[in-house]
Amino acid sequence: MEFKGRDIVSIEDFSQQEINHILDVTKTMEPLAKIGSDMLKGKILATLFFEPSTRTRLSFEAAMLKLGGSNIGFADAENASVKKGENLADTVRTVENYADAIALRHSLEGSAKLAAEFSKVPIINAGTGAEEHPTQAFTDLYTIRKEKGKIDGLKIALVGDLRYGRTVHSLAYALALYNVELYLVSPETLRMRKDVLETIKTKIPVTENADLDTIMPKIDVLYVTRIQKERFPDAAEYAKVKGAYKIDLKTLKNAKKDMIILHPLPRIDEIAAEVDSTPQARYFQQVGNGVVVRMALLSLVLGAVK
Ligand code: NCD
Repeated sequence: MEFKGRDIVSIEDFSQQEINHILDVTKTMEPLAKIGSDMLKGKILATLFFEPSTRTRLSFEAAMLKLGGSNIGFADAENASVKKGENLADTVRTVENYADAIALRHSLEGSAKLAAEFSKVPIINAGTGAEEHPTQAFTDLYTIRKEKGKIDGLKIALVGDLRYGRTVHSLAYALALYNVELYLVSPETLRMRKDVLETIKTKIPVTENADLDTIMPKIDVLYVTRIQKERFPDAAEYAKVKGAYKIDLKTLKNAKKDMIILHPLPRIDEIAAEVDSTPQARYFQQVGNGVVVRMALLSLVLGAVK
């Protein structure tokens, strides 16, 4: 297993053994997140965010700072040279001169892969269009393993926008490497995209178009997502599904006591605020895990840990 210098473009590039190693390294980062470290002293991460972000960008930056490194970059591409017409390949070949790794968020599918082809420094995909969001998947897996003590043997429901939501694509690919049962719950027009579905169905049992009330008593993890309004081709299509599902106390009535609720956030209205104080809610712990996971990923690709 070699991580130094490696790109993190797709979760599909990682074996189960490699994912487990990343989760193990993440565990060792927990104390360092509290006391700090100089493991990445002198290293610079560039965060190039062409799309909005709160958690992903700030957790990358916090991870870097906790390990003694520094950050440069932009969160508003309106002020970068792309505005003058510079293409992504040239941007990457410029920024690699300033940084030891690049975290890239972009609306175009394939953009992280393209950036990795041009870049001499590791490219970390921080979200590409509706395609993938691998570092969020590592965060989700770490949260599941930490909260449930394992991943194998669990029954997991993915709820919401399975078509345009990139986090569920990366997560589904990763879960398909484990011994889990997957339930897909979504409005008709937001079903899991075909390429992902076909891959995962060959590896694990997948129940498509599951009914949430029916599966609620048996699931161990309820992973809820936002409808990705910005990716809809037109406003009328969005209007049809807006508010199509909502998790509230009533929905959870028959849930297992030790079931956990995750959400990559941001939440709009798909989880009622009253759910936040239930013992099952774990989405804010999940946010915290995003920092330690990114500490692990950065120290691995920058060669500070093996
Ligand atoms: C997600 C994203 O950007 O894909 N947010 C995140 O990184 N935690 C989910 C979303 O925007 O709905």
